[in-house]
Amino acid sequence: MPLEIVILAAGQGTRMRSSLPKILHKIGDRTLLEHVYALATRLCPDKITVIYGHGGETVLKSLEHLKVIWVEQKEQLGTGHAVMQVADDIDEARTVLILYGDVPLLGDETVEKLIPLAEADQMGLLTVDLADPYGYGRIVRDSSGRVVRIVEEKDATPEERKISEVNTGILAIKGRHLKTWLSRLENNNAQREYYLTDVIAMAVADDVRVETVQPHDPDEVLGVNNREQLAHLERVFQRRVAEDLMRNGVTLRDPSRFDVRGEIESIGRDVEIDINVILEGRIKLGDNVRIGANCVIKDSQIANDVEILPNCVIEDAAIGQGCRIGPFARIRPETRIEDHVHIGNFVEVKKSAIASRSKVNHLSYIGDTIIGRDVNVGAGTITCNYDGANKHQTVIEDGAFIGSDTQLVAPVRVGKNATIGAGATVTKDAPENALTLSRANQVTIEGWQRPTKKRS
Ligand code: UD1
Ligand code: CA
Repeated sequence: MPLEIVILAAGQGTRMRSSLPKILHKIGDRTLLEHVYALATRLCPDKITVIYGHGGETVLKSLEHLKVIWVEQKEQLGTGHAVMQVADDIDEARTVLILYGDVPLLGDETVEKLIPLAEADQMGLLTVDLADPYGYGRIVRDSSGRVVRIVEEKDATPEERKISEVNTGILAIKGRHLKTWLSRLENNNAQREYYLTDVIAMAVADDVRVETVQPHDPDEVLGVNNREQLAHLERVFQRRVAEDLMRNGVTLRDPSRFDVRGEIESIGRDVEIDINVILEGRIKLGDNVRIGANCVIKDSQIANDVEILPNCVIEDAAIGQGCRIGPFARIRPETRIEDHVHIGNFVEVKKSAIASRSKVNHLSYIGDTIIGRDVNVGAGTITCNYDGANKHQTVIEDGAFIGSDTQLVAPVRVGKNATIGAGATVTKDAPENALTLSRANQVTIEGWQRPTKKRS
């Protein structure tokens, strides 16, 4: 049956104490509204409308990629008033589902239980039992247990305030009914607002049955009003991602100290991830990948049997099978590393290609460089790729051996199986199969005396 979704997102979010509109705060790498949008699109509706208000310009600009109809609610006169903004456009034959831009973790299964109720010409209302219902609208039932109305905290009697079943605000109803009831809403209540919740009593009066559904997990219906709640839902979200990975055969040494801010496009078997690892952007991990503590990996592909030791930062890189990276390595964008390469501690690699079995084990900078197979780059080697204006390339061919503390002043080429003596400053191409040195001859001055301190 045709469905349309209205997402209420005009509220100010004062308690966030932020210059950013509330719905633009993030969980994982997505804004709150994008989480709700993702759920909405999975339900394949004919139409998604977002009612926005506060920070309108910023919201529209940041979220212009969403395929929704944006409707502005200039003044926030209540949840009923928000839906009234689209009353004229509601299709009578469609089911209308009301969602909230600041309730990001609602589960598909939960909403999927609400929609058929509306399709059967009832009202589907999502409620939850809370130990502390303070602040929420309470669900008032009659002696036979039927819902009769919702009463807001500020309008409730002390007796009603004791009710622990609360309104989540999420509901599904036929457009035909919603249109009629919206036209009858009034604001004669404690807050002088148009309450969407008043449609419940109208449904009862019109003999439309109100059926409630409870979420599978109460965290699903939690909204974000302040940064504590944002942090809580971030953990709930991360926990879900972590559990999903563990079910798929990933070992997380501590799922509460693991974060995904993006999408894991594929992940192999027996991957082991130590604590405080952050995976960002689009990530592919092969089988038996081991990631040590405190690594940040972004937009990268890591092949089978790679070991990443603690404290590495890897971005926009492809790392081949059986490589060993780190500890304390930084792999920067546009780096392609083939199989069984070793990148050691305090090595920075940028925009470079390193072929199989080569080693850069200690304290080096490799930038704009092509390294062949079986190359050994000694400790402290620097590719001098930047002349202050332009970047230049270094090429090190297969089997070359670069002595420690060498500077390769690009553009420069080191030939196949060439050897560079330690401490060289290589400014011209080094021929293959030869030893190249750039080093003053060592001298010893016999009988030389160290200076001594002058007496005053
Ligand atoms: C509302 C419900 C209450 C429920 C609670 C759940 C009403 C009258 N009350 O409370 O029963 O327990 O949600 O959190 O509906 N919004 C607009 N425009 C407005 C007002 C609100 O878009 O003019 C949006 C807000 O951005 C927010 C949502 O509606 O996403 C709820 O608004 P909020 O003020 O937090 O809810 P309450 O009215 O306190
Ligand atoms: Ca609220």
